[in-house]
Parts: sequence; structure tokens; C-alpha cells
Amino acid sequence: MASGTLIGTSLNRVDGRKKVTGAAKYASEFALDNVAHGVVVGSTIPSGKLVKIDSSAAEALPGVHLVLTRKNRGKLGKMPETLQDGGAVAESTPPLEEDTVRHVGEYVAMVVADSLEQARYAASLLKIEYTREDFALSPDEARDTAYKPEKANGEDVQVSRGDVKSALAKAEIKIDVSYETPVEHPCAMEPHATIARWDGDKLTVYNSTQWIMGDKTILQAAFGLKPDQVHVVNPFVGGMFGSKAFTGAHVLLTAIAAKKLGRPVKTSLSRTQVLVNVGHRPATQQRFELGATRDGQLQAMRHTLTTTTSVRDEFVESCNLTSRMLYSVPNYATTHELVRLNIMKPAWMRAPGEASCQFAQESAMDEMAYALKMDPIELRKRNCPEKNPQTGKPFSSKNLLKCYEQGAERFGWSKRTPEPKSMREGKTLIGYGMATATYPGYAMGATVKVRLIRSGAELNAEVITAGSDVGTGLYTMLTITVAEGLGLPVERVSCKLGDSEFPSCAVAGGSNLTASTAPTALEACKEIRRQLGELAGKNADGKTWKKKNGDQVQLKDGKIIAANAGNQALSIVELMKQSGKDVIEAESKSEPIMGQNDHYAFQSFGAQFVEVHVNPSIGRVRVARVVSVFDCGKIMSGKTARSQFIGGIVFGIGQGLMEELVFDTVHGQAANADLAGYLVPVHADVPHIDVSWLDIPDTNFNSIGCRGLGEIGITGVAAAIANAVYHATGVRIRSLPISPEKLLAAF
Ligand code: MOS
Repeated sequence: MASGTLIGTSLNRVDGRKKVTGAAKYASEFALDNVAHGVVVGSTIPSGKLVKIDSSAAEALPGVHLVLTRKNRGKLGKMPETLQDGGAVAESTPPLEEDTVRHVGEYVAMVVADSLEQARYAASLLKIEYTREDFALSPDEARDTAYKPEKANGEDVQVSRGDVKSALAKAEIKIDVSYETPVEHPCAMEPHATIARWDGDKLTVYNSTQWIMGDKTILQAAFGLKPDQVHVVNPFVGGMFGSKAFTGAHVLLTAIAAKKLGRPVKTSLSRTQVLVNVGHRPATQQRFELGATRDGQLQAMRHTLTTTTSVRDEFVESCNLTSRMLYSVPNYATTHELVRLNIMKPAWMRAPGEASCQFAQESAMDEMAYALKMDPIELRKRNCPEKNPQTGKPFSSKNLLKCYEQGAERFGWSKRTPEPKSMREGKTLIGYGMATATYPGYAMGATVKVRLIRSGAELNAEVITAGSDVGTGLYTMLTITVAEGLGLPVERVSCKLGDSEFPSCAVAGGSNLTASTAPTALEACKEIRRQLGELAGKNADGKTWKKKNGDQVQLKDGKIIAANAGNQALSIVELMKQSGKDVIEAESKSEPIMGQNDHYAFQSFGAQFVEVHVNPSIGRVRVARVVSVFDCGKIMSGKTARSQFIGGIVFGIGQGLMEELVFDTVHGQAANADLAGYLVPVHADVPHIDVSWLDIPDTNFNSIGCRGLGEIGITGVAAAIANAVYHATGVRIRSLPISPEKLLAAF
């Protein structure tokens, strides 16, 4: 890449001012004339049949224009279900398709009125009759539905290597430990919201989404439309963490209602609807059997897990993708069962698979370290592979040992006395814990257009792609990249995102978009430089300029410079003027890389260190400080990177200590489906977080050497907390969250 000065600095978010002043428009804020308000109505029972909906009272209200039910929904086309198809619906059965309901909250109707208040009140007047059937809301209740999926997202689910059975039998030191994680929820601040408008047979949808092109694909299929008949718009997203990747049923219902009424319809989910209707991290039960030599060489690992899916659909929380690759274990086997619950189909939630796996696996490693009487960092170092042990592919750039070392140094790990309950301040028990963080390097592919624009004597640039900045900083990344690629000040570059009429771009998921788009934008800049070099050749000294490729042409301070043409510098504005050009543009496209190519495994790593303070009389755990060191390749911008890491770590504190969607197994309701009941960390729960990174470019991955970092921050945090709690108290809590109730019961 061009050895510039912008990539790798620390820039304020370029969209920050818009966000804090309210100028950034979120999906539900687009003011459309004559918009009607939709309210989706969910089932109040977890399993059964819809017998009858009496909507007469609702329909008689002033301002109410439509009660949408199975009877008047109309036909929908078959929609793609898998991510590989370029779009995926949240649940495979379209809304209002069947008279069977299989989870609380499943939409059975929608009411549309002139005002939100009218629609809500009308919705409350629907008289809905059901017959009830049996249901299951916990893995243990659903054991009879267990089955083993073969593939998930193209990967084998059930894998093994070596002979785990005999290696376990022979191992000098063994542990056999089981862990549980509950249903957790992404809880994005901005509730899922949609506005749909039809202009004749053209549909425009403003939708809070992390996958513009996925929504477009789904809407085309649902309504039998051609690509130019669907326009999806969403320049800003108020968080998603996975929950806005799959096109929700409310999006389809809103578009149906808008079509029927011939006017725009807006639907926002309530917080409770968000918690039961947009997908969640499924519950897991994970057993780890580990065998090691007395000096801490892992010989065997068996990872047996059960995760939950819905009654209709399959969702695999791929925890064992992580256990199969993290440590040098010659003998490994994993089996993964799914059980079916009467809840919404699970979905991705920040580090799906890794976050749950790393709680269990990294707790188990801590238990093994105690069994060996070995420092937990030392155990991890002894088993740190240079190749992915399952595929045999070398990691493209792996510096995990440095993360352990720098983390231990910054944290002051050497002050830890390993014996449980050996550190205290007065009555407060102090614990130090650590864990490994990891997340794959993904790049799912994007097309990026860059335009260099001359306006009078000024030069500006635009960088354009359909991908979404979901709060992660993509606007800033692409602005930095193009400013660097075209030698312009950052203020001269504007970035346009979140519109299906822009060049196509992958989902903003899997921490992939910076790696998908920034090197691609840089490629487009290079092509613009090449074109400028050619223009310079035509207009000035043809012989010296003509043959330059983009790498040999530099742009700086509005001038074009070719190093081996005697550093001749020409004004770009003049050059474009003379050539009669107002715009020079180029488009570049990148192909998907899903964690590996023919040569390498792409994976990020890190080390998480946590100090907890435990008040033993009330079972309260406070995270007192966190120190984390990450190896995510080249860091594009320090400030936004730090925010992403911290955000992930705060998620980890929530996962470790608070988060759990609880189901009332008698009535089948989600018992805490609001932000009063579903606890997430607030400022008072978040201590100083010391984040640093190695900044070693992974140029085997892309030209800049950057890997994504939106998700790795959460991984390992819950285990580091659990390990610290054990160190503080001598009590091992193997089920999340580590609540005061569980601790008190164990003391
Ligand atoms: Mo992220 S859970 O891949 O949106």
C-alpha cells in the first residue's frame, strides 16, 4: 500500500457531529408525507393454533385503516433462507402464513392507523383465540428434539482428529467440566424500524438494517420485483450486533400494508418485541474433557455441546469452530446437538459461537491450569499453535504470545498469588483472571466506487458503497483510506453508505466490512491515480508520464507527482480542466475470504485480563479493571478501534455478570423482556478498560493488512471474569451470568 500517514492515525469519527447534533437520520426518522403507523401484534402463547381473530372493535375505531391477518395478507414469493443466497429472512416461514404459532411474540396480526396511538389502542382491542399445545423453553425440556446438524455456514459441524478416546484414557491429568450459557440478546439501542413506500410498482424501504443488499434480495423475492424496483435506504444504524442482518418479518408486513393502503407505512418494534422477535444468542450447554501431560501439553480435547434452535428453523451457534482451532491438541473430537425451543429462531449476536465457546473453553483451561498447578498463561503458551490444528493451514499473521506477554506486563499479573482467596483488601476478596480472545478474519466482498471531483479550483472526493456503518466506524475508515489514496485532506472526502443503489456490498457482520472495503477503496484510488498519470501524459510530457501505473503516481497537496519522472509535479485541477474533466472515477471489487484461503488461516487473537472485587456477604462481583491486548493486524484508526474493543469488552462484562433472557416455563412468556428486567452494564458497572494492540499488518490478508475488530472484544471476557471470581473466592461458577444468587448459594 501507499505508505501514507492517515491510515493508522487516530481520527475523530467523521459522522460524529451528525450523530450528536441529531442530523444523522435513522430509518424511522425519514419524514414521509401521509405516513400511516403500523403496530405488529404478537402471539401471547408459546405454542398452539390460532382459532380466530375478532377485529371488529379495532376496525370500528376512527383512524384505523387496516387490520392485517392471515385472511387478507395475500401471497408472498418464496424467499431465500441462507446467507449464501445473498439475503436471509429471520424465520423461514413468512409472517401470517400459518395458523400455527410456535413462540410468544410471533406475529399474528398488524394494525395500521393514522397515528401510532390509534394503532396501538386498536391492537389492544383485537380479540384473539388460540388452542394451546405443549411447549419447551429450556434445553432439558426439549431433549427429545435433539439432533446433530451436519453443516453450518458451509463448515462441518461434527469433526474430530486423532483418537480422543484413548488419549483421554492415557492422559496424566484430566478434567471433565460442563458449562451453561443462557439466551442473551443484542439489545441494540435503536429498535428495529421500517418505513415502506410504494410508487406504482416500485418499493422504497427505509429499514434499520446491517445488510442493505440482503433486504433488497428478500424484498425482491417476496414481492416478485426486479432489481430496479426495490430501493433500500439506511444511512445510519443505531446498533445491531447481529440482530439486523436477517430481514425481519415486520419489514415484510410493513411493505404489504403500504401496498394495500397505497400510502407509506412506518413500523417500529417496541423494546419487548425487539427482545422476543429479532433473534438472540441461543443458550448453550458445553462439556469440555481435557487431557494433558503433567508438564501441561494438551493431549486430548472433547467438546460436547448442545445449543438451542427454534421449532421451525435451524440455527447453529458454531461454538466448536473455536475449540477445534485455538490450542495444539493432537486428539480432538466435538459433537454438537441442537434442541428445539418454542422461542424465536436464534440469530447472530456479537461473536456468535466464539463468545459462548470462549466462556466454556477458557474457564476449562483455567481449571486445567489449577489441576496442573501451572500458571494459566504458561499453559496457554505451551499449547499455542502456529497452524490451525484442524485444517493444517498456517495462520497468516499470529502474535498471540506477544498479547499474553504485554497484557501480563500492563496488568501486573506477576503480583497474583495463585491460591484462591489469597488476595484481599479488608473484607473484599480480590481476584485476577485471564483468558484468550479470538475471532476469525473475514472479508465478505464489496464493490467500492471512488470519485475525484473538481469543483472550480477545488478537489473533493467521494467514496461510495452500499455497506452499512452500524456504528463501527466504516464512514471514518473509508474517508481515511481515500484521503490517503488520493492525497487529499480528510475534510475533502465524503463517504456515502447505506443505499442499495450504491455499488453492492456484503453484510456488516462478522467484523468484515473494513477488510472488505478499505483495501478495495485503495485499489480504486490507485486506478484514479493511473488515469491521472495517463492524463498527465497526454497533456504534458507524454514520454515520461505515460507508462506509470497507479503505484508510481503520487498525489499530494493537489499535485500529481511521478517519482521516476524527475518528481515533476502538475496541478491536478489544471490537468482535469485541460482535459475537460470534472470527475475521474473508478470502481473496484473484492472477493469474499471467509477465514481462510488456499494458503492461510486468517484469525485475530488477544489476551483479556480482569481484576474483580467480590463482596462475599452479598455475593456482589465488581469488575475493577480490565487490560486487553489485541492482534488484529493493522489498526486503521486508533480512536474508533479503541471504541470497538471497549464496546466488545463491555458486552463481555454483561455476558459475564448480568445478561440472561429468562423464560417463564409455566406460561411460556419471556419474563424480563425489557431493559428494566434484561440487565446490561451501565456506566457504574464499567471500570477503566486498558486496551492496546500490536498493530502488526497482516498483508497476507489484504494490502492494508487490517482484520476486523468489532467482535473480538467480547471473546474471553466472561471467562476472565469467571476465572477471577474463582481466584477471589475459590468458587467456580460454570453457568452464566455469574449472579449474586449463584455465588451466595455456593459460598
Ligand atoms: Mo455480527 S453478530 O456478525 O453482526
